[in-house]
Amino acid sequence: MLSKTMEEALNRQVNREFYSAYLYLAMSAYFESAGMKGFAQWMRIQSKEERMHGEKIYDYILARGGKIALGDIEAPRAKWTSAGKVFEEVVSHEQKVTGMIHALVDLAIREKDHASFEMLQWFVKEQVEEEASAGDVLNQINVLGDVVGHLFWLDHELGKRE
Ligand code: FEO
Repeated sequence: MLSKTMEEALNRQVNREFYSAYLYLAMSAYFESAGMKGFAQWMRIQSKEERMHGEKIYDYILARGGKIALGDIEAPRAKWTSAGKVFEEVVSHEQKVTGMIHALVDLAIREKDHASFEMLQWFVKEQVEEEASAGDVLNQINVLGDVVGHLFWLDHELGKRE
């Protein structure tokens, strides 16, 4: 059985993962409107992954006999000024999410909740990948030059993500 504190903290994380899905969908829409289909595709897949993260925690709460409490999802912004600005935000957003996951791990340790600790290890590893993949794209944008005309190759490459 989950403690109330852990149940509430995990429900909050479900909300944050769905907010991430919403944020990346907004970024995908921004790239669509800029005619950058590959970037849009990358973000669309990222958005789906975030939904999967949210559902993974949702399933875990249920498996532990917890109660689901879905809250409002904050509306993300709709506009950015360049691909580089989008990816700067992705990197800092993922760093923030890593902090949230680590805070949940700390809570699991304090509560001696071994099952939650074990479940959260998947997210600890996932965050290393999430930060690295967004950071790689940001580096490539900076190397190529953060203007649409220089990013055709990268747009093509990112469009290969499945
Ligand atoms: Fe679910 Fe990108 O962290």
